[in-house]
Amino acid sequence: MAILRFEPITERHLPAILEIENATHGLPWSERAFRNEIDSKHGVFLTVMLDHELVGYGSVWVAIDEAHITTIAVKESHRREGIGRKLMNRLLTDARERGATCSTLEVRAGNTAAILLYEKLGYQRVSVRKGYYPDNREDAVVMWLYELETWVPTP
Ligand SMILES: CC(C)(COP(=O)(O)OP(=O)(O)OC[C@H]1O[C@@H](n2cnc3c(N)ncnc32)[C@H](O)[C@@H]1OP(=O)(O)O)[C@@H](O)C(=O)NCCC(=O)NCCS
Repeated sequence: MAILRFEPITERHLPAILEIENATHGLPWSERAFRNEIDSKHGVFLTVMLDHELVGYGSVWVAIDEAHITTIAVKESHRREGIGRKLMNRLLTDARERGATCSTLEVRAGNTAAILLYEKLGYQRVSVRKGYYPDNREDAVVMWLYELETWVPTP
């Protein structure tokens, strides 16, 4: 059976991350942006390894008591295997250990898969930022998970 584990981002993860990032997002992060996450003091950037294959990554920035999910992606060939949920569970648990009591994120209004994942984890849709994404002027849905102190990871 393949073993899934989380590893903090390092230089050697960058090529696989960039391949997923460029295949996934309309506004991909640059290599420099990912490089800045290595040894960042803002929060936690984790890769998901399935045996020796990098199949996902995600990041949370912790500002005092708020955990801001800044990015998450799962390789297309490994979606709907529970990887995104496990990664979010881990990021939120790590953020809580660093003192976060709530969490927020923005997501494209048309990104049903991600919105359903976040709702499953306990996030609520709180507001909309009109035309937030510059590539296609899509709205952003702002979601919050308020009770991180008593939140339980989603099985
Ligand atoms: C969003 C994303 C990270 C989800 O990762 P994933 O590993 O496929 O998600 P999981 O398998 O853990 O799914 C957990 C739950 O989320 C929901 N979900 C995930 N993908 C879904 C889809 N395509 N359609 C409907 N529900 C979906 C379901 O409730 C699912 O539970 P279930 O499989 O028991 O029904 C992945 O689709 C992705 O990388 N998308 C592109 C990048 C992206 O949009 N990132 C978010 C930016 S805000």
